[in-house]
Amino acid sequence: MMTRLEFLKKFKRFKNPFEVGCFFISLCFILCLFFLDYRSLRSGFRARGLGVWFGFGGSGSGREIVGFLETGRVGCDIFDGNWMWDESYPLYESKDCLLLDDGFRCSENGRVDRFYTKWRWQPKYCNLPRFDAETMLKRLRNRRLVFVGDSIGRNQWESLLCLLSTAVTNKSSIYEVNGRPITKHTGFLVFKFADFNCTIEYYRAPYLVLQSRPPTGSPKQVRTTLKLDKMDWSSGKWKGADVIVFNTGHWWNSEKTTREGCYFQESGDVKMNMSVGTAYKRSMETVLDWISKEVDTNKTQVIFRGFSPVHFRGGDWKTGGSCHLETLPDLSSSPVSSSGMFFPNIIGSVLSERRNESSFVAKLELLDVTYMSSKRKDGHASLYYLGPEAGGPAPLRRQDCSHWCLPGVPDSWNELLYAVFLKREYSLAAATAAAAPSSI
Ligand SMILES: *[C@@H]1O[C@H](CO)[C@@H](O)[C@H](O)[C@H]1NC(C)=O
Ligand SMILES: *[C@@H]1O[C@H](CO)[C@@H](O)[C@H](O)[C@H]1NC(C)=O
Ligand SMILES: *[C@@H]1O[C@H](CO)[C@@H](O)[C@H](O)[C@H]1NC(C)=O
Ligand SMILES: *[C@@H]1O[C@H](CO)[C@@H](O)[C@H](O)[C@H]1NC(C)=O
Ligand SMILES: *[C@@H]1O[C@H](CO)[C@@H](O)[C@H](O)[C@H]1NC(C)=O
Repeated sequence: MMTRLEFLKKFKRFKNPFEVGCFFISLCFILCLFFLDYRSLRSGFRARGLGVWFGFGGSGSGREIVGFLETGRVGCDIFDGNWMWDESYPLYESKDCLLLDDGFRCSENGRVDRFYTKWRWQPKYCNLPRFDAETMLKRLRNRRLVFVGDSIGRNQWESLLCLLSTAVTNKSSIYEVNGRPITKHTGFLVFKFADFNCTIEYYRAPYLVLQSRPPTGSPKQVRTTLKLDKMDWSSGKWKGADVIVFNTGHWWNSEKTTREGCYFQESGDVKMNMSVGTAYKRSMETVLDWISKEVDTNKTQVIFRGFSPVHFRGGDWKTGGSCHLETLPDLSSSPVSSSGMFFPNIIGSVLSERRNESSFVAKLELLDVTYMSSKRKDGHASLYYLGPEAGGPAPLRRQDCSHWCLPGVPDSWNELLYAVFLKREYSLAAATAAAAPSSI
């Protein structure tokens, strides 16, 4: 019997129209089976034969899967799982969401396939709560949720704006507090949901630490430096937030630093020979120290979103690397290696190294989206990041295989964010309830 993976690989080799036709008929058949399998999972009946054949067994045993919010303190690894076809997705349409850059509006920019919007992340050992925008907004009343990081952080932030805005009928009650448009620029943006007095904010800080002019007397090739021991200039604005979601990674490579004349600096010294990996690690230490001093982790939920993999095949973003015409995720359960992951694990490794050294590090959470996203080579903007006024899709040699179409993969990251956010809310409420009798 042919495994599904071999089956899919075979299709790649098909060239003539007849074979393409067969491909689509077979594809429909497969999708019907996914759908049936999903339905049977929901109704509690396990079509084990199909499930095993397609690598979809839910928990794989006869056990009922519990909800993540019901798993108590032990929890469940929500980052280990599979993508499941789900007809009820996507959770919104980009044309109904005013809060999106053109660059993420793939279907409006000409992408015709829609499969990439139909996958739901299913953890192996528990179920995620279904995203409910109103529940989240109510919980965020009078509070601030802040994203800090690079443009992939912005990708996730805009996804959350669209997800949350589905619960708001009066769209003009959602606005940028300084009246700035959402289109690309380099500062920060603060969107307020007036009915809930809550803000969902984005601060662009691709390195998290400060990039600025070099000290006087530096060698001529040094145009800027990254101060590895100082936080980004906007950090003062993040610190009172109720939830902070950090991300970094895509800018930690020599192309964006030393080759551009951006060197690393600690106190007054420019470290001409410091490797990017070392610099990245140092900067993460600085971020952790900053959190320990400036953030009250009893109040603020601090989350690091893991590295978002890229899927350039046969090159990188400027040498014709491609992900165009990828229409299906990788559904095998094996780990996927992804090119262009410079230091994908630095955040995770710094967090786990320092986990037991102080109680505050133990409270920091890792939203480990790397594995799940590595399976989604179909989810990138590819040629469809240019708005209609740019005159259609980008040239084949200029593909975007690092940002994600919306609706799409970052929505699933936000469903995970929703889950860990609610989990903390519930556990704080439980702790308060438990503490109440003794405090009377
Ligand atoms: C709105 O939320 C902010 C915190 O983000 C809070 O300081 C302020 O008091 C709230 N306003 C009202 C009217 O509750
Ligand atoms: C919609 O929200 C805006 C801004 O908060 C407000 O001025 C306007 O009155 C609201 N419209 C309706 C119909 O509630
Ligand atoms: C940096 O490396 C070069 C050669 O790789 C060496 O000549 C130089 O002394 C090093 N500089 C410092 C400050 O270590
Ligand atoms: C945070 O909460 C813990 C336990 O409730 C308490 O011991 C600690 O002092 C609190 N820290 C701050 C900064 O309030
Ligand atoms: C942290 O854990 C490691 C082993 O995992 C141990 O070697 C180290 O001493 C621990 N550090 C502290 C401060 O407890």
